[in-house]
Amino acid sequence: MTSYLNKRCNLWHMQKENLKYVSSGKAKDIYENSNDTLIFEFTDRVTAFDGKKKSEYNEKGEITCKIAEYWFKILEKNGIPTHYIECPTPTSMLVKRLDIVPVEVIWRNYMAGSLLRRYLAGDITLPQGVGTEEGSLIPGGMIEFTTKFEAVDRPVATDEIISNGWLSEEEIEYIRDLTKRINDIISQELTSSGIILADFKVEYGRTPDGEIILADEVGTPDGCRFWKKDEFEKGFIASLDKDVFRKNIGDLTVAYRELFNKLQKNNI
Ligand code: C5P
Repeated sequence: MTSYLNKRCNLWHMQKENLKYVSSGKAKDIYENSNDTLIFEFTDRVTAFDGKKKSEYNEKGEITCKIAEYWFKILEKNGIPTHYIECPTPTSMLVKRLDIVPVEVIWRNYMAGSLLRRYLAGDITLPQGVGTEEGSLIPGGMIEFTTKFEAVDRPVATDEIISNGWLSEEEIEYIRDLTKRINDIISQELTSSGIILADFKVEYGRTPDGEIILADEVGTPDGCRFWKKDEFEKGFIASLDKDVFRKNIGDLTVAYRELFNKLQKNNI
């Protein structure tokens, strides 16, 4: 089994040298596999604060790739259309090529991160019933949109999304519904792992037929906030996600591995 996998990895790495490089994101390198498929290579890179803070952590690429694969499979099984095809090696993912919607979609179950910062800066008022401390529950959850292809991500109102021609009103509603379903599926799966999904970011793209499907990665600690439930119930926030790096509160690989182990116990 191992030698089969090693052979497959070696073949893959030889093949990768001949693939056309497309671009690099914060943590992934993207290659063209065919006219209608791409390969994502999950690297050990990590960045925060719009790229101002950077580092590398051993094994991060492999852990995030496996976690993204884990969630893509669960979401597909639950009827969420995604671009995931397969993982040819432990750090790479074959995906359908899409026309990416230039908007990032954030779902929040609890007060944290930029929502809290914007509130404290007096930039926003909070929805009815939302507490003003990190970790306050947002009853029913909330969705936000930010720009994707601008130098710095900024929150964007649905009116602007529509007037820029990025999405129609119906497509925004569809994405709202899909994102809520993704939240419900992941949150439900996590109940037996002792983890709370505080918030997450997803991206969508259009297939050549115009169908909107889930793109990028999903459910990874790079793009979600995961809190340990037992600590939360005692009044503390113990993060198993990129906040460990943002806030300098531990070793990122250790936190990501702990998350992965908890998920594995749950299912794999
Ligand atoms: O920073 P903020 O609180 O807006 O982030 C909300 C969620 O979206 C967090 O889980 C964060 O990791 C994720 N996010 C992301 N990529 C971004 C912005 C936010 O994955 N560019």
